Amino acid sequence: MRTPLVVGNWKMHGTVAEARVLATGLRDGLKRPRGVHVAVCPPFTALAAVSEILAGSPIQLGAQNCHHEPAGAHTGEISVPMLAELGCRWVLAGHSERRKEMGESDEQIKLKVRAILSHDLTPVLCVGETADERRQGLTFTTVEGQLRAGLAGLSADQIAKTVLAYEPVWAIGTGVNATPGQAAEVQGYLRGLLSELASKEIAQTVRILYGGSVKAENAEALMAEPEVDGALVGGASLNAQGFIGIVRKAARIGTAAKE
Ligand code: 13P
Repeated sequence: MRTPLVVGNWKMHGTVAEARVLATGLRDGLKRPRGVHVAVCPPFTALAAVSEILAGSPIQLGAQNCHHEPAGAHTGEISVPMLAELGCRWVLAGHSERRKEMGESDEQIKLKVRAILSHDLTPVLCVGETADERRQGLTFTTVEGQLRAGLAGLSADQIAKTVLAYEPVWAIGTGVNATPGQAAEVQGYLRGLLSELASKEIAQTVRILYGGSVKAENAEALMAEPEVDGALVGGASLNAQGFIGIVRKAARIGTAAKE
């Protein structure tokens, strides 16, 4: 049984004051979520404030990015130990916005995943095809390349400690989510690759999230797919009630699966 995981990616949204309001709304609205794990990834500038607000709450803290070195002359960068000090347990790696806007390479993403694991945080490795790649029938080729590169050189035990997120680029911020069937098809393919890279048993334990225009209205149908172990939520995570609605849907599925 894989406990569903819902992660809010706040992206570059919110002042510290706004982040405090959102985090307080989440903390007060999600006192004891059962059957689901929840994390939020605020901008770096708000991590300390959100960490204080969420201390003692079941909502965990994550970051949207990291540098792969623990320290050094890397102006403007943030290392994994710095994130750990603020209470982060999760770090996104390879988000498509960073691949595109910052030119992040598979090689850099691989180093980030290793750095995150080496400090006992959990990487959420994001993969996904563009609309063009899907049109050209390159969906599986693209996500396979990203997965193999991101996890290259990891032991089976390390792979067991990762989370994957399938985020088709064409579904991010567009309001057009992948259908549950499309998500399940790609995520089943990714799980097959995990069997090969780690083992069949480990592949069954790794959570694969879906991301791309997830909202309370479509979350249940997506997460009802056995291959979809939760959601990575962008826009809808900026509204406390909207995000709580998604978490409740995931909790219902997670609790039902346990019974
Ligand atoms: P949206 O939910 O806004 O489509 O963003 C998805 C995403 O990129 C989460 O990482």
